Amino acid sequence: MCQHGTDPELIKQVVKQQFYIIGAVTLNNLLLRKDMCSWSKGMQIRYNVSQLEEWLRDKSLMMCGAKETLEPLIQAAQLLQVKKKTDEDAEAICSMCNSLSTAQIVKVLNLYTPVNEFEERVSVAFIRTIQTRLRDRSETPQLLMDTKVIYPVTFPFNPSSLALETIQIPGSLNLGFLTRV
Ligand SMILES: *[C@@H]1O[C@H](CO)[C@@H](O)[C@H](O)[C@H]1NC(C)=O
Repeated sequence: MCQHGTDPELIKQVVKQQFYIIGAVTLNNLLLRKDMCSWSKGMQIRYNVSQLEEWLRDKSLMMCGAKETLEPLIQAAQLLQVKKKTDEDAEAICSMCNSLSTAQIVKVLNLYTPVNEFEERVSVAFIRTIQTRLRDRSETPQLLMDTKVIYPVTFPFNPSSLALETIQIPGSLNLGFLTRV
């Protein structure tokens, strides 16, 4: 896009849209695949997301809203990594996962697979505690992310410094029917 001289404002919007799709598709996979729900996958996802963030920083795109679209995925990855045992853990999880729906949090906790035999599965009682704490949240009971969301596009007006009356239209474009007024 840079090579084609695309307006920087449009580039930002395209990047944000793409990051949303990456985050939504990845989170949906995580929510549907047990093999994605472990401490080590959480770590891999955090690492991979940090690479994406670094790319944004590299391209000076940190402020285009793209990073924010990854927030649900980041929180799900963190959820895989934090302790899930005591009431304090439950409280921490509830305040950390504010970009995830209750259905998503519960699903991740249910799918969570311990890395080794020394770690326990998340207890039913713990999941109940979470559900009780989040009962008063006003939210849609959404499990999967809508991967078809399209952000509105705005085309900035950037006046060209070229004077239109001086433009020569190349004959090869076959635009002979155009007349200058
Ligand atoms: C992280 O990214 C690598 C490629 O860089 C990929 O092979 C791997 O599957 C990703 N991990 C997860 C959990 O998505």
